[in-house]
Amino acid sequence: MSFDRKIKIAPSILSADFANFGAECEAIEAQGADWVHVDVMDGHFVPNITFGPATCAAIRPHIKGVMDVHLMIAPVDPYIEAFAKAGADVITAHIEAGPHTHRTLQAIRAAGAKAGLALNPGTPAASVEYLLDMVDLICVMTVNPGFGGQKFIHSQVEKVKELRRMIGTRPIHIEIDGGVDPTTAPLVADAGADVLVAGSAVFRGGSVSNPDVYGENIRAIRTAAEGIYV
Ligand code: DX5
Ligand code: ZN
Repeated sequence: MSFDRKIKIAPSILSADFANFGAECEAIEAQGADWVHVDVMDGHFVPNITFGPATCAAIRPHIKGVMDVHLMIAPVDPYIEAFAKAGADVITAHIEAGPHTHRTLQAIRAAGAKAGLALNPGTPAASVEYLLDMVDLICVMTVNPGFGGQKFIHSQVEKVKELRRMIGTRPIHIEIDGGVDPTTAPLVADAGADVLVAGSAVFRGGSVSNPDVYGENIRAIRTAAEGIYV
């Protein structure tokens, strides 16, 4: 995985057909997705349950590019090895998921994955200050984690700007997760984000048998984020 700050669109398969993940991953990549965002929920850290490492391992062969695994689980540490073995390129844990985030980030890197750290909307940017040399990605949650299709929380744009200043020249991605669509994408892109997760705004109106819609949706978000209005 090489580093750059170009806009990357990461469709969240939380909005895909759960009975058809392999074909859905192939369809979004064929339609221009840069990364595939995989939301793991445990019904404890967040009030919803999705799936675990076995499902990640099953979909891995259907993803050519980056598999970006967002762990909304607590505890995190006992499961890091399993998600790394399942083929995750990026493993993102929540700073709110436990008291030993520093150790968690070390464990993710030791398992051979890029280390991501997610911040809930109420968590300040300053909380990552002493972790900046431990992370490859900071995920700013622009909704409360747990469900797709929620409304973008605008106060988080300021947090993105603050994180972008704190990061300076370090090779750290800023990812935005929640409520990203063509109207909100430019706000976070201008603030310094480079990875835009989008569930409902990508999968809306399309399907594996009608995948062109995915392409149109991805292009609409990218075009808006890059400030190219046609
Ligand atoms: C929310 C998940 C998101 C979600 C985004 O807990 O982490 O990845 O799928 O969905 P949208 O883009 O519909 O807000
Ligand atoms: Zn997510």
